[in-house]
Amino acid sequence: MSVREFTFGKTGDGREVAAFEIKNAGGASITVISYGAILQSVLVPDAGGALRDVALGYDAVEPYEANPNYFGATIGRSGNRIAGAAFTLNGKRYQLAANENDNNLHSCPDGYNFRLWDGKAGEDGLSVSFRLHSADMDQGFPGAFDVTVTYALSEDNAVSITYDGISDADTVANMTNHSYFNLKGAGCGDIYDHFLTICADGYTPVDAKSIPVGTVAPVEGTPFDFRTAKQVGRDADLPCEQLSFTGGYDHNFAVNGEGMRQAAELFSAESGIVMKVLSDLPGIQFYAGNFLSGPAGKGGAAYPVHGGLALETQYYPNSVNEPAFASPVLKAGERYFTRTVYAFGVKAG
Ligand code: BGC
Repeated sequence: MSVREFTFGKTGDGREVAAFEIKNAGGASITVISYGAILQSVLVPDAGGALRDVALGYDAVEPYEANPNYFGATIGRSGNRIAGAAFTLNGKRYQLAANENDNNLHSCPDGYNFRLWDGKAGEDGLSVSFRLHSADMDQGFPGAFDVTVTYALSEDNAVSITYDGISDADTVANMTNHSYFNLKGAGCGDIYDHFLTICADGYTPVDAKSIPVGTVAPVEGTPFDFRTAKQVGRDADLPCEQLSFTGGYDHNFAVNGEGMRQAAELFSAESGIVMKVLSDLPGIQFYAGNFLSGPAGKGGAAYPVHGGLALETQYYPNSVNEPAFASPVLKAGERYFTRTVYAFGVKAG
């Protein structure tokens, strides 16, 4: 196991971006970059033992400076949508940027995915940590928030992402990783043939602007039933108001149980690669890459619509404004600590 550090490139304004490749004894590797604390590649063996890069992304800094799809991105301070781009905390109203309809999406336009993080290889030889200081009122959120995101790769091909932060005032903390996976390999067609399991009896229906209406609805009898493995494309085009609101799957699922547990599993019969998603958070956003766009990807690859899917662990979207949902509020001086694991393996179709 080793970490190799090298220069990935420079930002448009001349700042150097570091890359860190973590490689295990079996040859699997991940590369993470200090720009956006982005997971840039995930090379894992397929059923025949050949390595495939299963994460969508870019070869250079420049496209990450736009990154309209948020490939590999660390999202913060609060992922997904906040309705009306505003919330009230301790009796005070806070305004964020309205960057999608009237709402805020992914704490952008000045998201953590566009920051240069301070990266450092772990002494254990299997991890890389990125630190960020987010000032009081950064993006409109109260409290100075110091956060470290640590990526690690295990000998058995599990990628873990740990978020460890603290704020000096009550704030919202709801970070996630926005990697898109294609288990045939990034650039190898779409993911409608992948088998997906989501460990959720319920999901959070949305309005026409993708804001949850505040309920958890049963998945049973709907296209959102992924309780047993189902091909992503099987029900994707069924007539369904929820799917028409979002142009395809782009919904939060209420993951069964609590604590660190399996939230989802993705499998490609073509490559034999399987990915389990484990999380300690209440929700997971399944986004089927309905609007993938932008410049060519790694190696000049074209990423078509549905060319990858994201499984973003999270507090439910708009939970800061929705008392029925678990709260994403982080109290002053308390530790924000959460972990997501993408565990790779192979199995027979
Ligand atoms: C959102 C989608 C959005 C995508 C890329 C997902 O987390 O739910 O609506 O299109 O991110 O921004």
